[in-house]
Amino acid sequence: MECIVINGGRALQGRVAASGAKNSALAIMAATLLGSGEHRISGVPDLRDISTMKRLLEHLGVRITGSADLRLDATHIDIVDAPYELVRTMRASFLVLGPLLARFGNARVSLPGGCAIGLRPVDIHIKALEAMGARISIESGYVNAVCERMRGARILFDMPTVGGTENVMMAACLADGVTVIENAAREPEITDLAVALRSAGARISGDGTGTITIEGVRELAPIVHTVMPDRIEAGTLLIAGAITVGDVTVENCPVAYMGATLEKLRDIGCVVDESENCVRIRADRGLKPVEVTTSPYPGFPTDMQAQLMSLLTLAGGTSLIRETIFENRFIHVAELDRMGAHIRVERDCAVITGVEQLEGARVMASDLRASACLILAGLAAHGTTVVSRIYHLDRGYEALEEKLRRLGADIRREKET
Ligand code: EPU
Repeated sequence: MECIVINGGRALQGRVAASGAKNSALAIMAATLLGSGEHRISGVPDLRDISTMKRLLEHLGVRITGSADLRLDATHIDIVDAPYELVRTMRASFLVLGPLLARFGNARVSLPGGCAIGLRPVDIHIKALEAMGARISIESGYVNAVCERMRGARILFDMPTVGGTENVMMAACLADGVTVIENAAREPEITDLAVALRSAGARISGDGTGTITIEGVRELAPIVHTVMPDRIEAGTLLIAGAITVGDVTVENCPVAYMGATLEKLRDIGCVVDESENCVRIRADRGLKPVEVTTSPYPGFPTDMQAQLMSLLTLAGGTSLIRETIFENRFIHVAELDRMGAHIRVERDCAVITGVEQLEGARVMASDLRASACLILAGLAAHGTTVVSRIYHLDRGYEALEEKLRRLGADIRREKET
């Protein structure tokens, strides 16, 4: 196993570019199952989750070439079965259910199960697909779904789910009639998926709002699309600038979709200058405490919560973070406390009392965003921090330590002894 070793205390300076969005690319790759021919997806980040999705699609019969510029030929699908071994390593694998069912009339997809940050059920996906005519049974941990032809339906989600919205939106593209999803998730990655599907002839409107309407078509042409930049990676890089009292400009930044994050960084006292696709951040030592509640887009993203917490450990005063999306997304707190932070967790709230300085320590990553949070803390800390279980980081950040090194960080990857 590998770990990341950081000698903290260097102010980061310079320019860095965000990569393509992981969560957008994963959904668009699953969407290629909807149509035969060669799909072309550009700006795909080089990540472990992307490799897992490639392996799953190849297992189903998709022929894939390229890396950043992917060519996916989904003409001949041999199997409609997504096995546990692949789904358990990456929950986004469940996104193949809607497309397989809509195009082939049946699918067998493993239930993903829980993960470190929460139980993460898929009941809303299943209920909606049933409303569209699918007959679904759950046997031995697998979802078996059958449907002659999906039909359009009016669907009201109990809560806005990103994956649920994507699964249903994809299935509805090939359904008979019109599907309306109410209380749909509004995340930018859903809009990016809709743009990709429209490039293939799908009739989707309302994406980015709480009501999405999809008029089914007989078949889709190949997708031609460039993946949007990753707003969570961009936010993480900005916090790297702020926490090291540096001056960092993030290019290829989806500024229009980062409102909640940029506003909080300003409230904390960072100087944030934005242009069309670029954000520059500068910070000094006098950071202010804030209150933050995670919520579905356009609220503050749960995927930025851990990274923001790192920054707040060094703000003067008491900050409050309330996590409303996932029930177990504070595992990083105990690790930050080992670095000298003062954080108390009460149910869904973390109360963070700012300290003067973090101290380097050996810490362990528990999930993707927790690993980014610990690296950020290590960049600011006095002394050496060793972050282990770094395979979590590789799932969702493309070459993070290289990007940070170019900004002046003393950071390297080592084999764990
Ligand atoms: N939920 C249900 N039933 C469902 C579906 C969701 O109760 O059928 C609940 C979940 O348990 C959770 C809430 O609804 O409490 C929201 O979950 P959602 O379905 O929106 O999350 P997701 O689609 O599983 C995506 C991202 C996550 C991100 C969340 C929230 C991908 C591949 N994953 O997950 O990204 O945190 O939306 O924005 O798009 C990450 O990148 O680190 C990550 C975890």
